[in-house]
Formats: sequence, structure tokens, C-alpha cells
Amino acid sequence: MRESLRFFLRFHILFFLFFTTIAPKVVQAFTGTYGINYGRIADNIPSPEEVATLLRAAKIKNVRIYDADHSVLQAFSGTGLEIVVGLPNGYVKEMSANESHAMSWVKENVQSFLPGTKIVGIAVGNEVLGGGDYEMWGALLGAVKNVYNSIKKLDLADKVQITTAHSQAVFDKSYPPSSCIFKDDVAQYMKPLLEFFAQIGSPFCLNAYPFLAYMGDPENIDMNYALFLSTQGIDDSKTNLHYDNMLDAQIDAAYAALEDAGFKKMEVIITETGWASRGDDNEAAATVDNARTYNYNLRKRLAKKKGTPLRPKSVVKAYIFAIFNENLKPGPTSERNFGLFKPDGSIAYDIGYHGLKSSSADSLQKVLGSSPHAIYVILNLLIFWALDFLNR
Ligand SMILES: *[C@@H]1O[C@H](CO)[C@@H](O)[C@H](O)[C@H]1NC(C)=O
Repeated sequence: MRESLRFFLRFHILFFLFFTTIAPKVVQAFTGTYGINYGRIADNIPSPEEVATLLRAAKIKNVRIYDADHSVLQAFSGTGLEIVVGLPNGYVKEMSANESHAMSWVKENVQSFLPGTKIVGIAVGNEVLGGGDYEMWGALLGAVKNVYNSIKKLDLADKVQITTAHSQAVFDKSYPPSSCIFKDDVAQYMKPLLEFFAQIGSPFCLNAYPFLAYMGDPENIDMNYALFLSTQGIDDSKTNLHYDNMLDAQIDAAYAALEDAGFKKMEVIITETGWASRGDDNEAAATVDNARTYNYNLRKRLAKKKGTPLRPKSVVKAYIFAIFNENLKPGPTSERNFGLFKPDGSIAYDIGYHGLKSSSADSLQKVLGSSPHAIYVILNLLIFWALDFLNR
């Protein structure tokens, strides 16, 4: 007994020494496995203060926003929430062209809020490669480098991680997963970008929507496979790996493309995934039922803290899209209905648990001295969270 304790301690010390002296210091922006996107293209959602309160109550620590809105950064100060800010696409060319502009942006929107607000990452542009603005494709790496150099000069490189999120439009041939490669026209911009991210230890950020993949090919895709429900799944004949849900397959497709491009060791994280609860007539899959099923099963999948068939040791991490429905978003109806919560804080779809009593609402209200509105939002998040415990 004593021997094994001693062995354990010795091992522990060696382990500790190894990781404090040899392991490189690389910033990790995503510390959990379940994060959330806080999209704000709406005129009817709760205030940033209320959102900070509800996220803390729900124990969701990892949050992404699409800009660096100062009211949000202020409201998140001192909350312990770990936030990734976005440098919007509209700034990418300017930041690429002029390093001093990148420095000003970083000082004004990141440095001035640290350390009170835990800004752990900057996403430079969103879904730039594969999108419609080719000039921006060419500017992306320059913007990434200028933002990173600014961070480095300000001595923040070990606190703030620089990334950019990609849509699935960067890929070619994603079925079966092992055949996935980057599109030819994208690859010439993607490879130097990946080289830079490999140098600074940043992951590959992917916005992955089984919802969109299913809607693109409903004849050939079993919706249950996209919803993490029981199906025969698919077999990848090249790797002999079996997939029982589409999200895992989408992640492994990204790993296959990275490996093909020479970046076998780069981690893939999911910066957006979700399912719309309402859509237009031609978006039949966007139902309350399907959105509930997807988000419920996704939550369970992430709570397992497991990797994918191709990368069993890389635990899947995802930011859900999104906290709220966003009533001012353009495009098809589904775009405005990805929220787990309605603007008034009520859950966007009933997930089948009604266990919380009104008395707990009363005491919560006393504790927080907050508005009934915020309490309502918190209660709904708590119900959502209860799923996690019930499914362990
Ligand atoms: C970058 O911007 C600064 C300030 O706006 C300006 O003084 C400088 O000339 C610009 N540099 C280039 C290369 O455009």
C-alpha cells in the first residue's frame, strides 16, 4: 500500500515536472466540451447582464460572440465566463492591409477588457474561405497574422488564441468521411493558413450542420442519422470505421482533409452546430421536434467526452448555435430559429421535463434579486442542464 502510494507520488512529480518544463505553453480557448454561441442579431433578446447571469447559472462557461460588442464585454467582466470575440468579416481586408489598424483593434476591443473579462480567443473572420468574396480569401491570412502579431507584441499570446471558423463549403467529397479533401480553389489559401495555425498551436474551427447536410440531400440521407437516433449508420470502407451519427462523420471528414493537406496533428473543434426549430415550406426538417431531438442528443454526445472513430483521443468539443432565436437575421426562416431559447427566455421547444417547482423560482429570485424575466430564462436553462445529469 505504502509502496504504491510512493510510486504514485513519484510518478505524479515526474508527470508534473514534465508538463511544467517540457510541454510548450499553448493557449487553449475552449476549456470545456459544451459551449454556446451568443448571436445578437435581434431586437428582443435579454440584456448582456441577464445573459451573463443565466449562462453562469447554467454553468456554461465557454461563449462565442460575433463581434467585440463593448456592452457584452463589460457585462461579462468578473463573471469568469470565457469568451471568444469575433473580428467581423467587414474588417478583414483592413486588418490585413495595415498592421497598425490590427493593433488598434486589439487594444481597443481585447486588451482594454483584460483581465476582468476573460477574452480567451479572437476569431478572425467567419466562414471567409469558400464564401463569395474572393478578395477576402486573399486577405484572411494577412489579417490573422497582423492580429496575432499585435497580441504577441502586447504579451498576450499565452492568453488569447487566434483562430478562424470555416464552413463546410471548404470541402470537396465529404462522403465517405475518409475521402474528404479541401476544394482545389480553397486549398491554395487554406494551406498557408493551416501552416501558420500549426505554428501557433491553433485548432481547425468548423461550423458543422447535419441539418444543412440533410436538407441538401433528403432522398439519400436518413434523418435519424443526422439526429443521433438509432440507424444502421454508415461504414467507411477505406478506414473500416463505422459511423452512427452524422456529426462524428463530419468531424472525421475534416480530419481527413487536414491529413491530406499535411496537418495530421491539428485538432478540429466545432465552433457552430445546431438545428432550426422552424423553417419555410421547403425546410421541412426544421421542426420543434427535430430541433429538440438534435440538441438533446448532441448534449448527451458531448457529455460523453469521447473522440470520433478516426480520432478516438481527441474529445469532441462544440459550441451550440445558438442561445436565442434572432429575429433580425436575413435569409430563410430557419436562420431566425436556431435558438435554444425564445427571446422572452422561454425554451424554444419543450424538452419533456417539468420537474422544477415554483418555490425554487421564488428562492432563486430572492437570491439574485433579479427580474422575473431573468429567473424564467435561468429556470429553463436549468431544466436543459438537468438532462445532462439524468443521462449520466
Ligand atoms: C496604416 O495606418 C496608419 C494609421 O491610420 C497610417 O498612418 C499608415 O500610413 C498606414 N500604413 C499603411 C501601410 O497603409
